[in-house]
Amino acid sequence: MSTPNSVDSATRERLLQSAREAALKAYAPYSKFRVGAAVLGARDIHTGVNVENASYGLTLCAERSALSAAVVSADRPIRAVAIACIDAPPDSSPGSFMPCGACRQWLAELAPDALLLIAGTPRDYTVSELLPLPFTLE
Ligand code: THU
Repeated sequence: MSTPNSVDSATRERLLQSAREAALKAYAPYSKFRVGAAVLGARDIHTGVNVENASYGLTLCAERSALSAAVVSADRPIRAVAIACIDAPPDSSPGSFMPCGACRQWLAELAPDALLLIAGTPRDYTVSELLPLPFTLE
């Protein structure tokens, strides 16, 4: 089992700010629930937003959008992922800020050792904490 990454406080703030700023560009005309994600690769920060579709099930989440951007830039391993659900009321239950199941599976594949910084939650998480037994193909 490899050790999960850690980030210093300046990097942490930079990632959370990048996720919040990205969320302003979300395409969420149906849910009006804007989400931004910022992925820290080996070199850079890559952002993503949720991109909805009139055929609702085709919606792309912010996390997968940002992970794809990191892959396109061949910027791995991924060290941390920040997520900001800027339309969730601050007093929402923790679940309103957490990545969905599909995104957890993507994180397990592409960012297994990433630290997850989730705005609005009291602490950081590891990917294996959020998805302990992901599907894998040998
Ligand atoms: N959403 C994300 O972007 N990430 C998640 O992990 C959960 C949900 C988006 C999808 C949809 O556009 C909106 O939030 C409401 O579900």
